[in-house]
Amino acid sequence: MERSEQIAAKRGKESVVRFKASQIFEHSLIMVAFTVLVITGLPQRFPDNSWSQSLIQNLGGIYTTRLIHRGFGFVLVFGAVYHIGFILSHVFRRKRPLSMMLTFRDFRDAIVTLRYDLGLIDQQPQLGHYDFRQKFEYWGMVFGCTVMILSGLILMYPIVVTRLLPGQLIPAAKAMHGYEGLLALLIILIWHLYGAHFGPEKFPFDSSIFTGRISRERMQREHSLEYQEMLNAEASTTVPQETQDQGGVETREEAEGKS
Ligand code: HEM
Repeated sequence: MERSEQIAAKRGKESVVRFKASQIFEHSLIMVAFTVLVITGLPQRFPDNSWSQSLIQNLGGIYTTRLIHRGFGFVLVFGAVYHIGFILSHVFRRKRPLSMMLTFRDFRDAIVTLRYDLGLIDQQPQLGHYDFRQKFEYWGMVFGCTVMILSGLILMYPIVVTRLLPGQLIPAAKAMHGYEGLLALLIILIWHLYGAHFGPEKFPFDSSIFTGRISRERMQREHSLEYQEMLNAEASTTVPQETQDQGGVETREEAEGKS
């Protein structure tokens, strides 16, 4: 192997940051809350099944099951509030753009990917930090959590709600909560787990959301647009040869400061 190829292969294995500590925390919080809400919610949705009855019994009875469900409902509410705080700080304090906003390009990338998967073209689209699949799933989750939190709160405080709004809202919220809960579980099992862990390129387990890092080689393969931007940024902060020869290391800020 040529020396340049060896260097490229070595660099490919180096890792880069993909998720910050606050994002790892948020994902873990939602993952734990969602799992407990499904385990304590589903047996209430299908109370006549034998597995529901034995699960409720093992959880300490229906009273405890409902108590755990409501408690973790508030953990999910906390996760939602934390996420809104994160977005506000991202936009107003750090003046960064909203990376999950859907753009025309995402729909075009989805169509190009579909054509690539069908073998009609041989070039995949260049994708940024979050691709169209991740953005679609994110917005599905925002919608799903909003429905679950609002309908859950209505079921939890029916007397307060019916003082202000019509009583038909209670059975409507119950139906919505039950069906959306089931839909959320199916989406996580089929879409999310396949996309994040069981797909051919990720199987058996993608640890990036727990470690916060991915290899440069993976970034180049899956987020080529972001990779290109990173290379450009690295190039603009890398020391020009003449500067190195003079023993100095020039950062982009220093270079811009001189001009
Ligand atoms: C994605 C998360 C959630 C899932 C998967 C889920 C699932 C479920 C399911 C399947 C039921 C049974 C519905 C039925 O009997 O038809 C239920 C009941 C209920 N859920 Fe949720 N839920 C979630 C989030 C929440 C949240 C955020 C709250 C409150 C803030 C909440 C509060 C309730 C309440 C009050 C009930 C009625 C049973 C009771 O009185 O404890 N849920 N949930």
